[in-house]
Amino acid sequence: MTTDPGATAPHQPRTPSEGRGTDAGTSTGGTPDASTTAPDGRPSGFSTRAVHAGLEPDPTTGAVVPPIYQVSTYAQDGVGGLRNGYEYSRSGNPTRDALQTALAAVEGGERAFAFSSGLAAEDVLLRATLTPGRHVVIPDDAYGGTYRLVARVLEPWGVAHTPARLGDPDAVAAAVRPGETGVVWVETPTNPLLGVADIPRLAEIAHAAGALLVVDNTFASPYLQQPLALGADVVVHSTTKYIGGHSDVVGGALVVGAGVRLPLGLVGPTGTDAVADAVGFLQNAAGAVAGPFDAWLTLRGLRTLAVRMERHSANAAELAAHLQAHPAVTAVHYPGLPDDPGHAVASRQMRAFGGMVAFRLGSEARARAFCAATRLFTLAESLGGVESLVELPAAMTHASVAGSALEVPDDLVRLSVGIEDVADLVADVDAALEVAAREG
Ligand SMILES: Cc1ncc(COP(=O)(O)O)c(C=O)c1O
Repeated sequence: MTTDPGATAPHQPRTPSEGRGTDAGTSTGGTPDASTTAPDGRPSGFSTRAVHAGLEPDPTTGAVVPPIYQVSTYAQDGVGGLRNGYEYSRSGNPTRDALQTALAAVEGGERAFAFSSGLAAEDVLLRATLTPGRHVVIPDDAYGGTYRLVARVLEPWGVAHTPARLGDPDAVAAAVRPGETGVVWVETPTNPLLGVADIPRLAEIAHAAGALLVVDNTFASPYLQQPLALGADVVVHSTTKYIGGHSDVVGGALVVGAGVRLPLGLVGPTGTDAVADAVGFLQNAAGAVAGPFDAWLTLRGLRTLAVRMERHSANAAELAAHLQAHPAVTAVHYPGLPDDPGHAVASRQMRAFGGMVAFRLGSEARARAFCAATRLFTLAESLGGVESLVELPAAMTHASVAGSALEVPDDLVRLSVGIEDVADLVADVDAALEVAAREG
């Protein structure tokens, strides 16, 4: 027995290597689908992979859903006699492995890693790929927690950052410091302003400088957007959102593309320059892993991702058009609107435009009144669940960027549009707009 359980190398999930860059030709829209073939060589579209990847009937009972291996340690057949490589659940757990296999399959990555939250995943990736003295480019309207991690945890550690407008590739190129920038961090669409970044173009810019292109794909989900197939190196998710999909679990994930190497000559703690090795080491060494039940819930959510995203997108498109036509609304941010600045790029790289809509009401008082007046839209942080949510980013999810270059307008309202009947959602929004319009 080791005195420090899990101190040895992390368990290697049995993830099929699916490569990247191929187009399934099975998707409904313009987004490249990362993989066309199942391990047995038969064609496999996104929904098939989402339903089947990581799912082998339980060898003992035939249970068609992977068991929740709610266990911390595993019996050994003699010292070091591990059964299927399992030693300790921080290092490896079959339920987490099933989720990781499925995540790698739906994003078209070489390996995936599941964490206890999206921010835990981000922390591991940034510490695996950057060292003190290095630099990261971040979106100028990044998720507030990402900004807080970079500005208040990484910066004191010695990693500098520059916010850049991702919709403007020249601005990103100007922010990159060749030889110093290890990561260009992309959100698309962004949280909360729904800005759109051209992934292939930004991949060119990052790669020309020797940096990695990392895409936080939380808002789009792997169903709507396949960043690895578009040239990104690593995908990040808060699986708390659309992948989990039911507002009942917090989690995060990293999916690493095939053969991706650490930037700027870095060698990882296991002596290789593979990003997957460095991330796998840190997942175990720092320990913020997804627990078995959380992994199981997330895997269950992933199975229905495709059908949920279709409905989220259809409902959000209808609401965005409705809001745009409403006299009380001064601006609507939704990449599906034909006059949205991100529409052309989003049409090229997304299958549909997602379930998030942001809009402005001209004053903070009106925005607060709106948030207090909805009935179906619950006032709450987070997003991506089947139920509709509303929030005021400046005071809630993005309070941590107040006073920074990333500050968001105080009259901005963000909707996470659920999968309810859209007529009921429109009626709820109309009633709340009427209340808001009474404010000065
Ligand atoms: C775009 C985005 N990335 C990352 C995160 C962080 O994820 P978590 O809350 O699971 O730590 C969030 C959370 O809201 C998010 O919206």
